[in-house]
Amino acid sequence: MKKILITRRLLRENEDKASKIFKAELNLNDELYSQSKLLELSKDCDGILTSLTDKMDEQTINKLPETIKIISNFAVGFGNIDIEAAKKKGIAVTNTPDVLTDATAEIGVLLILGACRRASEGIENAKASNWKWSADYLIGKQLTGARLGILGMGRIGQKIAKISKSLGMIIHYHNRSKLSKEKEEGAIYHDNLKDLLSVSDVLSVCCPASKETVNMINKDTIEYLPKGAVVTNVARGDIVDDDALIDALDRRKIYAVGLDVYKNEPNLNPGYLKHKSAFILPHLGSSTKETRTAMANLAIDNMDEFFKTGNCKNKVN
Ligand code: GLV
Repeated sequence: MKKILITRRLLRENEDKASKIFKAELNLNDELYSQSKLLELSKDCDGILTSLTDKMDEQTINKLPETIKIISNFAVGFGNIDIEAAKKKGIAVTNTPDVLTDATAEIGVLLILGACRRASEGIENAKASNWKWSADYLIGKQLTGARLGILGMGRIGQKIAKISKSLGMIIHYHNRSKLSKEKEEGAIYHDNLKDLLSVSDVLSVCCPASKETVNMINKDTIEYLPKGAVVTNVARGDIVDDDALIDALDRRKIYAVGLDVYKNEPNLNPGYLKHKSAFILPHLGSSTKETRTAMANLAIDNMDEFFKTGNCKNKVN
């Protein structure tokens, strides 16, 4: 039986499944392992099931025992893992695509709605009974007829496009390549970021974090957006330069933001907290029972497939 380390708690049924297939080292206290603890616990293991809170950088990967042959990430994003360093060491890295598309797109749409319709202020006032109906009370931005710019038209971007289109939004997108007509479903392609941003009344950041996308939304690119645009991010905090976005909120260049992901999670830039127009969530993208169960099953199956065949369809390096 292969031995694996599971760095964070999974839902109970997933831990039971893993324990049936592998000799699984569980983290029952759901402690955040330091690098040294993770290395110590991975001794004699054949694989590690990581979460996005594990920083598997080059240094950590180089120190892993030679017995480790796979890192199976419990996420679709794998920016927490240096996949090249893993490849050099002969370690396969896998992720969990598809199963979280719907849940994450739902949160992506919630960010758009919450930011445009001033949900943070509304919730705060409703809880404090501090409001009085009037014709101009908490007037927000209507989605119907607004242009939604999707940065990164992968599975999640396409699902957000579909739902937002049904809300009456006009969909524009930028992606490394243009989609087929069927996948586009009427969305308008822009082959560069500037053109996309200049038509985005609302921006939805959906692309993966990579060397190319780090701080893609920054002081210069924010200026391409129309005045009073709304910026939302359901992908990864690394894609946005927080200081630039907060400055744009301060100057009212940006009307509101809707964020589920941050640099240095869970310590988001405090500059967002002073803005009532910041609709902020604690990285809830994939957080439904169905989705977390399916993600963990897939992360376990990825390991099983890899140990049995030496390969895996969800291998990313
Ligand atoms: C969640 O953020 C994921 O990448 O799976």
